[in-house]
Amino acid sequence: MNRLVDGPVAPDPSPADPAVDPLTMRRAMGRFATGVAVVTTVVDGVPHGMTVNSLTSVSLDPPLLLVCLTTGARSTDAVTRSGRFAISILSARQEQLALRFARRGEDHFSGLEVTYGRHRVPVIPDAFAHLECEVERHLVAGDHVVVIGRVLTVCERDGEPLGFMGGRFSDIVDRGHEPVSWFF
Ligand SMILES: Cc1cc2nc3c(=O)[nH]c(=O)nc-3n(C[C@H](O)[C@H](O)[C@H](O)COP(=O)(O)O)c2cc1C
Repeated sequence: MNRLVDGPVAPDPSPADPAVDPLTMRRAMGRFATGVAVVTTVVDGVPHGMTVNSLTSVSLDPPLLLVCLTTGARSTDAVTRSGRFAISILSARQEQLALRFARRGEDHFSGLEVTYGRHRVPVIPDAFAHLECEVERHLVAGDHVVVIGRVLTVCERDGEPLGFMGGRFSDIVDRGHEPVSWFF
């Protein structure tokens, strides 16, 4: 073997992993516990919304977050068309709303009273928090569209969040740990 520098020889790379199939990917990522949110928007006066757990904070200054929305979903097209959306982070007892906004092809707002935030985007009443955003940019990545939003307003409530792990809703229990000093 030719080597440019002396030193330990790196082990041979292992043979390529077999392709990671969607179920394996979903199961592995299911170990990363998250909250549950509903992304909402409005186009031509019609409200749209879908349940997500791909919500991540991106930047504090400016305040940016991202969500990954499946390509071709009605709500994905609606968010990119409207240029505005809201994130409603669901409370512990809002599982039924999470399921309602995950049913494909249904009118997710049917029979629900629509509440609008300060920037005229629909939001879920009694959610743990709302963040109204404008679309900063979006890009297609695989079978999803990554939507980066600039946060315009935030509204928080007391209570407990709804959790999601391993394909199930779960409780997130506050055991009163010390705050992590990294935040301060
Ligand atoms: C807990 C939970 C989390 C979800 N997270 C996402 C997500 O992050 N991105 C996504 O595209 N779909 C996610 N879904 C699936 C969508 O909610 C579902 O496909 C929805 O019906 C699509 O809306 P549409 O009717 O506008 O197509 C999730 C569903 C559940 C129950």
